[in-house]
Amino acid sequence: MLINYVWRRRLFFLVSLLNSIFVLNAQDTEARINLLLAKMTVDEKIGQLNQLPGDLMTGSEVGKEDLLAQIRSGRVGSVLSHTNFEQKIILQRAAVSESRLGIPLLFGFDVIHGYKTVFPIPLAQAASWDMRAIEEVERIAAREASADGQHWTFSPMVDVSRDPRWGRVMEGAGEDPYLSGKIAEARVRGFQGDDLGQSSTIAACAKHFAGYGFSEAGRDYNTVDMSEQRLREVVLPPFKAAAKVGVATFMNAFNTLNGVPASMNKYLITDILRGEWTWSGLVVSDWNSFGETIVHGAAADDVDAASKCLSAGSDMDMAGGTFQRGLKKALEGKRISMQQLDEAVRRVLRLKYSLGLFDNPFLYLDGERRLKELSQPVYRETARSIAASSMVLLKNQGKILPIRPAAGLKKKIAIVGPMADSKTNKDYMSFWTLGLGMQYYDSTQVVTPAEGLKPVLENMGYEVLVRPVCTAGDCDEKSYAMMIETAREADIIIACVGERGLDCGESKSVASLDLPRNQEGLLRLLGRFGKPVVMVLFNSRPMTFEWASENIPAILVAWQPGFETGNALADVLTGRVNPSGKLPMTFPRKVGQVPIYYNHLRTGRPQASFGMPFTSGYLDVSATPAYPFGHGLSYTEFQYSDITITKPTLEKGESLAASISVTNIGDRIGSEVIQCYTQDLTAEVARPVKELKRFLKITLNPGETKKIQLKISQEDLSYWDNELRFRVDPGKFKLFIGGSSEAVKEADFEVKSIKK
Ligand code: GLC
Repeated sequence: MLINYVWRRRLFFLVSLLNSIFVLNAQDTEARINLLLAKMTVDEKIGQLNQLPGDLMTGSEVGKEDLLAQIRSGRVGSVLSHTNFEQKIILQRAAVSESRLGIPLLFGFDVIHGYKTVFPIPLAQAASWDMRAIEEVERIAAREASADGQHWTFSPMVDVSRDPRWGRVMEGAGEDPYLSGKIAEARVRGFQGDDLGQSSTIAACAKHFAGYGFSEAGRDYNTVDMSEQRLREVVLPPFKAAAKVGVATFMNAFNTLNGVPASMNKYLITDILRGEWTWSGLVVSDWNSFGETIVHGAAADDVDAASKCLSAGSDMDMAGGTFQRGLKKALEGKRISMQQLDEAVRRVLRLKYSLGLFDNPFLYLDGERRLKELSQPVYRETARSIAASSMVLLKNQGKILPIRPAAGLKKKIAIVGPMADSKTNKDYMSFWTLGLGMQYYDSTQVVTPAEGLKPVLENMGYEVLVRPVCTAGDCDEKSYAMMIETAREADIIIACVGERGLDCGESKSVASLDLPRNQEGLLRLLGRFGKPVVMVLFNSRPMTFEWASENIPAILVAWQPGFETGNALADVLTGRVNPSGKLPMTFPRKVGQVPIYYNHLRTGRPQASFGMPFTSGYLDVSATPAYPFGHGLSYTEFQYSDITITKPTLEKGESLAASISVTNIGDRIGSEVIQCYTQDLTAEVARPVKELKRFLKITLNPGETKKIQLKISQEDLSYWDNELRFRVDPGKFKLFIGGSSEAVKEADFEVKSIKK
């Protein structure tokens, strides 16, 4: 007993010592910030809120005077999009040794799907539903970016969207707020680790706050107008998840939200983010979004825009100069107070302290570490693995996949299509691959589909025909005709189609989701030979291909897989890796169905079947999706038992406990994403037909069964009503568990009414 007591005392002393060290550290930082603030002139304070572009333009040029001169005069707090390592040292030296107060610079960069090693686009990674893998991707990206002098990434993008016309769906995690929230947490953990002071971790940034994914008509930067409920239920949850997991910064969105530009939206930034969520980090504008409040017509001039954005809670002006031009006059005109200005400056200085930059401004500018860190081929193995686990097998009629060994028969495989062997820059990637300069990420870094497949298929006994191949940008009838000739000789045809890398991302909205440049016409011609055709889609968004869906036996969504495209594709098509991806976004039949998403309301006249009159459907197409949220096939098969609910009637506040067994009834190992949805059958307002509440990715050997236990709290079942009360009502619910949002087992449960 005495020993226990002594150990308990020691433990208590240690914990309180650690706690007091932490508190002292924080107090010490605040004291140092106060001392520095007291020395700063108004111009130097405004300078800390000014972020200027480096040697890369990721937005329209806003006029760049001499960066070094501005840094020396204390008018720059941060530089973004600077790729040249040696110059970053020069810039930092100018800030630290040649400006009056020597405040170090913050270097920010878009590390969106890798820095030097290029991983699949974020939407592809979302299709893996593998949080550990996604966190590992960002750990590697942080190691590479930090070694190259970047302190801060403008990632994760956590904009939920239901509109594939919007080019930026590729940067997010799709249509579901719960999945987007879990991925946001994984990305922030990956970038920031446990200690921002480590030189291998970087500050993350939840963006774009908020509602950007709901731009009208899928047009980038367009108007966003939505109910408070949709904001609370769909848009905000991933941002809240990022805030709760400790993301260091937020970024404004370009759009207006219900008429108010996000950069000057006090309700969003001060009331919700800093108020309700008690988040106290740094908010940076998007590129010149402060200045664009004037273009929106919500501010009269720089003074007005600067006052409104700072007063709303925004702190740093990215590449706009609005604060530089307008904030001092706003202060003199008492539009803002010195206290408000100081608060914004504190948040900048606090971030710099947390990164260790005041103790060592060159902590991230170590040439030796850079050489070592930026030459780790092992990182490509991670890229290959997540690229394979992100691919989604939509269809496998007649089980023509995986491709089996030729077994002595002299068989031929043709690899054709505009995306079969493209050497066009950024193909299989996206614009957001900039870390070492645009020229680094040319096609020589990518293992193309043909390069990955050819050696592997030849080892399996096939003769592989890869000719002639145009690239997605320059295919014409002649090149298609030559592909047809090649395909005519083959026993199996692999047709690689889809979007070019530079047609994905920011300001890349489309009005049609069809395969571009008549690629479906090519598929129709290939389909005429009556041979097995495998369609491999390289895409950054859900696309429409109705004829192919009906006539091509095997369809694999490969997304934009990054550097290891060809190797990952070969792994999946030959069965070395059993596909396990599940769609994070619904694939429509036609673009006219957009927005189409799984967690929709029932309406008063749900479409029971196509063509039913007086129901919510279309004359010309079924209202159902081509491929639903959560869909994805495997080369094996998973069987689900019925759901067991421990206690189907819950007292108020009691959690639901359920279990289900899943068996791999096929002949090969495989991974399955078990998805758990609920439906609130009756509430104060209409509720979605399904809402994702839990998911789990498991691997099962052939014949293996696993019993999965799930717990869902009544907080998970709660919703926002019209008076903005967050509540759960007594009444009946449904629970759905399965391998997609449609292939599910279901069970009933209820929350008991409270006895009056
Ligand atoms: C861009 C994007 C934003 C990015 C920023 C810096 O316009 O909207 O996501 O982080 O500018 O490149």
